[in-house]
Amino acid sequence: MGKAKTVYACRECGATSPKWTGRCSGCGKFNTMEESRVETRTASSNRHANWSGVAQPVRDLKSVIPRETPRVTTGSSEFDRVLGGGLVRGSMLLIGGDPGIGKSTLLLQSGAAIASANRGVLYVTGEESPEQVSLRAQRLGLSEAPIRLAAETDVTAILEMLEAERPEVAIIDSIQTIYHPELQSAPGTVAQVRDCAAHLTRHAKSAGCSIFLVGHVTKEGALAGPQVLSHIVDAALIFEGETGTPYRMLRAMKNRFGAVNEMGVFAMGEQGLEEVSNPSSLFLTQHDQPVPGCAVLAAMEGNRPLLVEVQALVEDSPSPNPKRYASGFETSRLQMILAVLNKHAGVDAFDKNVYLKVVGGVRLTEPAADLPALLAAYSSLSGRPLPRGLVAFGEVGLAGELRPVQDVGARLREAAKLGFTRAIVPRSSQIPKVDGIEVATITRVDEAILRLSGQRKAA
Ligand code: TYD
Ligand code: MG
Repeated sequence: MGKAKTVYACRECGATSPKWTGRCSGCGKFNTMEESRVETRTASSNRHANWSGVAQPVRDLKSVIPRETPRVTTGSSEFDRVLGGGLVRGSMLLIGGDPGIGKSTLLLQSGAAIASANRGVLYVTGEESPEQVSLRAQRLGLSEAPIRLAAETDVTAILEMLEAERPEVAIIDSIQTIYHPELQSAPGTVAQVRDCAAHLTRHAKSAGCSIFLVGHVTKEGALAGPQVLSHIVDAALIFEGETGTPYRMLRAMKNRFGAVNEMGVFAMGEQGLEEVSNPSSLFLTQHDQPVPGCAVLAAMEGNRPLLVEVQALVEDSPSPNPKRYASGFETSRLQMILAVLNKHAGVDAFDKNVYLKVVGGVRLTEPAADLPALLAAYSSLSGRPLPRGLVAFGEVGLAGELRPVQDVGARLREAAKLGFTRAIVPRSSQIPKVDGIEVATITRVDEAILRLSGQRKAA
């Protein structure tokens, strides 16, 4: 083992500096540098994260024959879908989410399903006592599941357990509570999180054990120890949802074994998390009368179409600095959309507070959400509801143009299936005809606004 020295590491991005600085040079955030002691490494104490401990020869690319990666089911097709078709042997996975969102529940349920299929599962709890985990298992009706359980936070002890038990799947709940006794910094600091994750990864790769790390989410909504861990793990998943609603969404932010745009949907009930295999109408509200400020996006989450309501409220602001607030949508995108609306359609909201919300806690990241967000804001501003049965999708460009998005046919078919009768979509060469839905193709934002006022008059 080498000598210990003091460095300062950023809590947010993991950048290090030999001196304390008020502002991190990596991510530019203030007051995020923390003191930590690190060992200067010698060749014999190699802890490089993804190194399995076996030296590999240099080979010709063409001589490498990829092996089939058999997948283990987690017992839930929604979870498997997000993982890219099940769990890959020896993979490291990070699951982040707000406290109380259901991370422990999800992993206990999946752990039980995997263990019941005769695969060894070790659940290491660092946050809760074994009794608390057992109570949860009872609540879920899983107290008979053949899961091995340990309450431990010392990573060296956990590694010994992993060596002794040789489970196929291990769950570490949570990575922020685990520490390495040779490092002097507190559990949860960048140095500890990185070091413990690196040790566990070494075990995962050499023993072929899949390891789930539970991670916390910071106030800003990012995965804690984010950049630090995202390089180490094979997949980083985020579990989210709106408190007060039963729906929970699992999505991949990174996945070396699958697509990142897949979303798994669950409902938290008395019996724990249940899969929602057809979520397409969950994120719509039933309005008796059309209401100003509501627009419906025909979204694609991975391969699955999903209808999501976007709501806007635009009101006069008493303050000279009007508010721009978006939930489930990036505020900077909302600002961009308002600027386009002003510049290219002559609709200004300078002296107005603008709030935008996506129903059901869904987070919209695809550019197709721009058009419904714009229409919702315009509808609230003008006080006129959008026509009944309307869906929209399309990316808004800074020049006021609407850009086509992918999977037009799948979006329109899903909308028609749920009873929508009209769609506003960007003009493109491939717009299939879908029964029951009348499609208006447009190229510019001002055209969309004009068409809406025209439809009002015609109606
Ligand atoms: P938990 O898995 O402990 O969340 P996390 O590990 O992300 O902090 O889940 C916590 C919430 O889920 C808790 O508020 C209780 C609720 N819950 C149910 O509604 N039904 C259940 O069957 C279980 C086990 C939990
Ligand atoms: Mg928990």
